[in-house]
Amino acid sequence: MKKEKLKKSSCLYALNYIKENIIIGIGSGSTLNYFINSIYIFKNIIKAAISSSKNSTLKLKKLNIPIFNLNMTKKTDIYIDSSDEINKKMQMIKGGGSALTKEKIISINSDKFICILDCTKKINILGNFPLPIEIIPSSKYFIEKQLIKIGGIPKYRKNIITENGNIIIDIYNMRVKNSIKLEKKINSLPGVITVGLFSIIKSNITILSFKKKIKIINYELLNII
Ligand code: 5RP
Repeated sequence: MKKEKLKKSSCLYALNYIKENIIIGIGSGSTLNYFINSIYIFKNIIKAAISSSKNSTLKLKKLNIPIFNLNMTKKTDIYIDSSDEINKKMQMIKGGGSALTKEKIISINSDKFICILDCTKKINILGNFPLPIEIIPSSKYFIEKQLIKIGGIPKYRKNIITENGNIIIDIYNMRVKNSIKLEKKINSLPGVITVGLFSIIKSNITILSFKKKIKIINYELLNII
């Protein structure tokens, strides 16, 4: 089955989590574009959406779903997003689409983070996908130097200014063995807005689509067992 079909099938499963009067957080990217397209049948029961990017907001507005922001509602009932990579602890790399900061803010303020993925994104060690960091432009030289010290190869993402007016550095060659430690370390560098590691805030429920099945991983249940 083609990757795009796999993405669509995990999106369809995620529709099970939409309940009446829900405030839903919506991420960004190609998987989320499919998800937004598939929620039109629920558009009248969704109270509002909080979106992580202009692109997703535009699509939601076309469905006439009211758009809130976090300062209006404080939290969302669920947050639906995808990621670039996920490991077995449900830690993720996100930010391929440059919307990582808003994605982190919305996900931490959500009762449940539901991650929808195709099976190609499940890996053992995070880092094959270049790790994005949003930084303020004037800190570029300093931050690149620090990233080299920790073993990464930083590369400036050309022609991208984030919706917050910042730039993105992608770190190549990182094998992320301790994701929480690395997330804290990079986030503590002056000039960093946020790193695209989601290991402190991570997915509660992961919907992974394979060629012939959908696998649901509930991280809270995994911890109990
Ligand atoms: C955007 C993201 C996306 O979730 C991630 O890049 C995956 O994108 P896609 O669904 O296109 O594979 O983090 O900032």
